[in-house]
Order: sequence, then structure tokens, then C-alpha cells
Amino acid sequence: MPHAEKYLLAGVMGFPIMHSRSPAIHNYWLAEYGMLGHYAPLAVKPDGLEKALRALHPLGFAGVNLTIPLKELALPMLDEVDPVAQAIGAVNCVVVGDDGRLRGFNYDAFGYVESLREAAPDWRANQGPAVVLGAGGAARAILAGLLAEGAPEIRLANRTPERAQQLATEFGARVRAIAWDEREEALAGAALLVNTTSMGMTGQPPLEIALDDLPAGALVSDIVYAPLETDLLARAKRRGGRAVDGLGMLLHQARPAFRDWFGPMPKVTPELRRKIEASL
Ligand code: ATR
Repeated sequence: MPHAEKYLLAGVMGFPIMHSRSPAIHNYWLAEYGMLGHYAPLAVKPDGLEKALRALHPLGFAGVNLTIPLKELALPMLDEVDPVAQAIGAVNCVVVGDDGRLRGFNYDAFGYVESLREAAPDWRANQGPAVVLGAGGAARAILAGLLAEGAPEIRLANRTPERAQQLATEFGARVRAIAWDEREEALAGAALLVNTTSMGMTGQPPLEIALDDLPAGALVSDIVYAPLETDLLARAKRRGGRAVDGLGMLLHQARPAFRDWFGPMPKVTPELRRKIEASL
């Protein structure tokens, strides 16, 4: 064990933070590998972020995840930002170098694509157009992931059309902004439908979209994971389609972060999934 002499430390910074499932995920892996260490929830507000980040090295932290409301704010505070994180405009993983340098990554795009692969191993981004609903931070990560995988066309609909247009401009010609009212007809010929909005989350109304025009073989994915089966996913299943819940993205984005900090690339085992599901 390379780090046996050192107590391994990482955590997640955000505010509020106690709802985060990341401690349960990373502490599960630390225990599984028999590593001595801990991953802590760190309640950090925006005005304390820079000091908190610069304290990581002297405290001996290998790194941290960042969550709401810190992911975008951290970019100018880091010594280096990976191109994927740069394109997404947000950092969800900070890695502390031996010299104290702070490097920023965003593994949400990776996590999303891996969650599709886990649920549908035959899925390929080039199988057809994708329809993405929503234009917030989660949508940015998903666009980056789908484009990197070779998606030929992404139809992007958002309630506020300017935000979809802005993303289409930033991400290039394969992303086409469409009107929110066109989201149902946009399903014709699509291979993937993704909900990145907060609709369908516990306490929110369900996402309004009739699935009639969506081809039978298309995947339907929702980044919402509370509840695990949203109304959208339930309807997709009822018509015989394949549904991918939002927990996979959360579980898989954690893998490369753990690897960067501690060495081994961990797996999302059925036991880990059950454990996190039970905590939702
Ligand atoms: P995140 O970073 O988690 O993606 P966000 O930036 O707040 O969060 O984005 C939330 C997304 O849900 C946005 O696309 C938002 O649409 P607007 O850009 O028009 O705000 C979408 N959303 C939230 N409530 C919605 C509603 N009632 N109907 C449709 N879209 C909604």
C-alpha cells in the first residue's frame, strides 16, 4: 500500500453540504481498498472558497470535489484547469499536487457517459440525434460528454430560449437550439432523450413531454435521482423503452476523482449502488 504511512484526506466543498452522497461513495471505496483515510463534507461558502482551497495542501488533502454553489467560482482560483472543465465552465474535482499546485477537472461528462454505458452497453453516441432538455450547468456537462463521444446532432430545448442559444453558439454546429414548444416533435428519429432540468425532482412538478414521437429503441435518461424513478422514466419504461436514472452519473463521476487522489480506479459495484439508493 503506497500511502500506508499517510492518513488519506479528501472531501466535498459546497453550501449546503450535508445532503451530499459523495462522502458515502468515497468512504465506501476507501474501506473497500483497506486504505486509512476519510472523505469529509466541508461546508464552504463562496467567500471562503479561495482560502479553503489554499488550505488543502498544508492540511495534507489529496483534493476535493466541488458542488453548488462553488463549481463555476473556482475556475480562476486554480493553477491549472483541464480543457474539459474549461469547456463546461465548471470544476467538480480539484487535485492537489505535491508542490501545492491546484488542478481542476470536471468529471460530470465522464460520469454521464459511463452511466449510459453501464445501463445500455450497446449505446453509441453516433446512433442518432440526441434531444437535451435544459441549459444549466448539468446540460453543459452532458453536451460536452455527448460531443466528445461523437454525437452527430444535439437538439437543445430550454424554457428560456436564450440560454439554449448561448450553449449552441459555444458548443458549435452539432448543437442546435430549438424552441421549448418544439421539444416533442424534436423526438422524431432521436436515439436519446435527456432531461437535465429540475423537473421531476421530489417537490417539483413532473417534466411535461409526450413521448409518442420518440423511436421505440431510444434511450431515455434523467439526471434527477431523487426520486430514482421519475415520471419521465416510468413512462419511458411503460412504452417498452430503456430508462437510465440519474444516480449512475453521480456514482461514475466519483471514480476518476478517487483515482486522481488515491491511485486505484474504483468500480461502481451493485453493493455500492444499493447503499446509496437506500440513502436517497
Ligand atoms: P443545473 O446547474 O443543475 O443544471 P440550473 O442552472 O438552475 O441548474 O438549470 C436548471 C434547468 O432546469 C434550466 O434549464 C431551467 O430552465 P431555465 O433556463 O428556463 O430556467 C430548467 N427548469 C427549471 N424549472 C423549469 C420549469 N418549470 N420548466 C422548464 N424548465 C425548467
